[in-house]
Amino acid sequence: MSAHIIDGKQIAQRLRGEWKQRADRLNALGVSPGLAVVIVGDDPASQVYVRNKIKACREAGIRSEEHALPGDSGLAAVLALIDRLNADAGIHGILVQLPLPAQLAPAAVIERISPDKDVDGLHPRNLGSLLAGQPRFVPCTPAGIMELLKTTGLELRGLEAVVVGRSNIVGKPVALLLLQAGATVTLCHSQTRELAHHTRRADVLVCALGKAQAIGGEMIKAGAAVIDVGINRTAEGKLTGDVDYGAALARAGWITPVPGGVGPMTIAMLLGNTILSAERHAAALGIQLDS
Ligand code: GUN
Repeated sequence: MSAHIIDGKQIAQRLRGEWKQRADRLNALGVSPGLAVVIVGDDPASQVYVRNKIKACREAGIRSEEHALPGDSGLAAVLALIDRLNADAGIHGILVQLPLPAQLAPAAVIERISPDKDVDGLHPRNLGSLLAGQPRFVPCTPAGIMELLKTTGLELRGLEAVVVGRSNIVGKPVALLLLQAGATVTLCHSQTRELAHHTRRADVLVCALGKAQAIGGEMIKAGAAVIDVGINRTAEGKLTGDVDYGAALARAGWITPVPGGVGPMTIAMLLGNTILSAERHAAALGIQLDS
């Protein structure tokens, strides 16, 4: 048996088409969706991600601004910029690219973003809403993972879902989303004993460890849906996920490739959250969106 390959690029493209229609409608009503992206320092990978986000905005009919601050910026300078963006009525979404330089505590920066503009869904208020089962902005990668799982046609209710990795940005929120969808969720992490014992039970396996090829074929249940969030670089400079892709192809029911699986979804969901935020802003102004 060979697993179905979940084509994140194609799914993201379809969603981006839908967002574009919603952006066009907003623009026609005089509300031009706007995203501000803040980058501190010159990490090359972050610069690529930010460039891709800006380009995707342009294609979706979303106005975007990039705010690049020097790598030695202090907290006060970053918070002053966020305050300015919070107060700017033309900006509906604020994203601070992570990771931040060591002198900046990410929690202090994220908490300063208005929860109503937190399109990354990482503000404690938004994470709390997600925990309470009333999400306002869902973090982009976890939201994208749920969209990928939708395309498998699997009924998640009652399935065993295992998430490997407990980050605030992926592991914890995706575990909550799977729980909300009715799966029985196990959240594994670096201290988990006998990881394979858990992963082998998983009907849905989400791998977000950030360790190349850490999940071998023998750790995968036959027929499982395997979502590989990892983006690692091999010694030869090739991108590779957290899963042994060849082994997963032979064993899983579904598998996401790296690149071209989860990655494109993160950007698509960011655009979706920005449009959602602009629609909420329009509704608060009394603008009728349904026609
Ligand atoms: N760095 C890597 N992924 C992300 C993301 O989803 N959001 C932000 N802000 N930074 C990231």
